[in-house]
Amino acid sequence: MVMERLDKLIASTGRWSRREAKEMIRAGRVLVDGRPAAGPEDRADPRVNAITVDGEPLDWRLFTYIMLHKPAGLLSATEDARQRTVLDLLPPELRRRGLFPVGRLDRDTEGLLLLTNDGDLAHRLLSPKKHVEKIYYARLDAPLGEEDRAAFARGLVLEDGLRCLPASLELLGDGREARIGLREGKFHQIKRMTASRGAKVLYLKRLSMGPLELDPALPKGAYRALTEEEVREIGGKL
Ligand code: URA
Repeated sequence: MVMERLDKLIASTGRWSRREAKEMIRAGRVLVDGRPAAGPEDRADPRVNAITVDGEPLDWRLFTYIMLHKPAGLLSATEDARQRTVLDLLPPELRRRGLFPVGRLDRDTEGLLLLTNDGDLAHRLLSPKKHVEKIYYARLDAPLGEEDRAAFARGLVLEDGLRCLPASLELLGDGREARIGLREGKFHQIKRMTASRGAKVLYLKRLSMGPLELDPALPKGAYRALTEEEVREIGGKL
């Protein structure tokens, strides 16, 4: 049994806020197995108990998983007093679900950003101990070569002493483009890693996170829900 608070289950639909859910429960509009719920803190298992709002079955979700193609110019945060965040790209019914970005991309970085309200999954995907690989495409102002590839594979030590985990560097074309695979996510990590080898990042895009790949059909700034298969692959809960 997965017992969840009723107000949380109702808000998980995205149709109502948590506050509205509480009011609806208090007004007796929410029934659990045919009986009016006593209060917002009442718990139910939506897989076992029949929950209705105004007589309609509740379209609940335990968690929400969104793939966003992040454009440059937005912060990877849930809110900011001055700047637009990736949450501004979502409609109100999704913004009400308490979603947050799993890991941060810099303001000028584009590409795959997973948004969820599943804190356990976020923790698992980001923990360096779990070694989930994130792959980026980078365009550089100077070519990298075989020695740099070997140094990435050994684990770079940056000027400030930061010791990086071994990372993959797949050189493309003349070495001014590369696919870089990281198993951790320190602040400006790729920019600092390539800078330590004499190349500045001109453009950066995240292509994948573990088994989750950026959907090539998703234009910049667009989002979609993960498919059931993708949720299963990354270890989310359906
Ligand atoms: N490394 C960076 O330098 N920036 C990002 O946004 C992601 C990885």
